[in-house]
Amino acid sequence: MAIYLDNRIPNSYGVRKSTFYFLNPGYWTGKGGNTIEEGGIFSFLRSIPQVQPKTPDDEDVLEEENIVKRQVKEDLVDPDVVVQIRGLTKTYPGKIEIGCCKCTRKSHFHAVKGLWVNIPKGQLFCLLGPNGAGKTTTINCLTGISPATGGDALVHGHSIRSSVGMSSIQKLIGVCPQFDVLWDALSAEEHLYLFANIKGMPVASIKLAVEKSLAEVKLTYAAKGRASGYSGGMKRCLSLAIALIGDPKLTTGTDPINRKHVWDIIDNAKKGRAIILTTHSMEEADILSDRIGIVAKGTLRCIGNSMQLKSKFGSGLITNVSFSETNTTDAAESCRLALRKFFKHHLNVMPKEETKYFISYVIPRKEERNLRKFFTELKERKKEFGISDIQLNLTTLEDVFLNVAKKAALENAADENNMTTLVLESGKSLLIPVGVEKIGIPGSVTPQNLSGLMVVVHWGQDSDGNLCITGHSAEMPIPVRDDFSSSLAPSLLKGNPGHGIVLDF
Ligand SMILES: Nc1ncnc2c1ncn2[C@@H]1O[C@H](COP(=O)(O)OP(=O)(O)OP(=O)(O)O)[C@@H](O)[C@H]1O
Ligand SMILES: [Mg+2]
Repeated sequence: MAIYLDNRIPNSYGVRKSTFYFLNPGYWTGKGGNTIEEGGIFSFLRSIPQVQPKTPDDEDVLEEENIVKRQVKEDLVDPDVVVQIRGLTKTYPGKIEIGCCKCTRKSHFHAVKGLWVNIPKGQLFCLLGPNGAGKTTTINCLTGISPATGGDALVHGHSIRSSVGMSSIQKLIGVCPQFDVLWDALSAEEHLYLFANIKGMPVASIKLAVEKSLAEVKLTYAAKGRASGYSGGMKRCLSLAIALIGDPKLTTGTDPINRKHVWDIIDNAKKGRAIILTTHSMEEADILSDRIGIVAKGTLRCIGNSMQLKSKFGSGLITNVSFSETNTTDAAESCRLALRKFFKHHLNVMPKEETKYFISYVIPRKEERNLRKFFTELKERKKEFGISDIQLNLTTLEDVFLNVAKKAALENAADENNMTTLVLESGKSLLIPVGVEKIGIPGSVTPQNLSGLMVVVHWGQDSDGNLCITGHSAEMPIPVRDDFSSSLAPSLLKGNPGHGIVLDF
């Protein structure tokens, strides 16, 4: 009975054997035929819905998909392809969770919505994506930790959908997970209480320390959820919070020398095999990868090498202008104002980031032909603008990632009501959709400024790959457009004062 229940009750990945698994010869011989099911103990009440295939927007993703589809159709086996992902999908089934006084019903969730990728021998393929994109789920399907619910993948010609294939794959595959020492049944809050007590913190200070710690790692919203339901990034955050609670004087991490060492090992390991790496470090991805795929919300958004992605998805060239005077005297302020006007007038750009030490701009590629003249004049007028240094850099992979992630976040913001709070310099808070750049301020129309005010929101990526606000530009008048009076003016005049107005020009 104990063995039967052990095989039937879902494990931590929701995986379990079929009802009559013991009647299958494969169970006893270890060869073929074993099927695995997934879901909570009541998931038999509903079937798992399949993901509807969608044609990718990006032409490189479409081309990769077509190459794989053609090979599948013609039954062509390319000996150089180690991993062939064939429309892989993964849907976590809905489940009924029984609480002490009520049952909650969770609906199914499509974590991977059809991946088509060839990964050849000798290549490191880097799978990038924000939190919850489906990276770990994909790796779990490829390694047999969690079964795919649709499509297939071949590893050295063995299918992940067959138990014989999977047992061959598991002999061929090496997995290097990031281990988190957490208890699945405990929540983030309970972990932190436990470790605070173990570390001997005064009981009276623990409650506040736990709250602060949860806020620091942005886990307050999930404080009471069980760790088993957290995404990989959330678990890393919790591990970090555990390490830091009690304000230790020494914390350890991977230092750059060590990291370089790890990179060398990975680079050497590429020979004769394929490597799939998932990371939140763009530097790592840029240095190590031969090809990069960015996934978001379970869908591949772009694919190519670092240079191809930078030229296709990068915003342009990045200019950092540092100031010689870092004070906020009127003279220094007027220099900055003049510099902002200079950039706006010649290149029609607004600051991407601004501190009292520097201003940075992203110069769109269409302005590239004007740059020689522009920078000659800027250099000549360095003194007048109070500039100490000017740097011009190529766009970064981080910029590419953010552009792709912002687009995906925007697509989903409406569906999922994914909002965040923007705090303006005046202290006023506005709710805005995640990923939106230009925001109009409700109630900012005055007789002096009939078009109202806006800010440009700067987005960055937190340590887990989530989009987060890193700052915003100064408030500026909204450029007047033909359709202004009809659509924008009413919302700027009478819009919900707590909600930012999305400007899409
Ligand atoms: N066992 C599960 N049951 C239900 N949903 C799950 C389960 N595991 C993961 N998910 C959900 O599937 C989505 C993809 O999760 P996954 O762990 O693959 O993301 P990820 O790209 O690895 O994110 P991160 O960068 O945070 O590690 C997330 O929304 C997550 O909440
Ligand atoms: Mg993960």
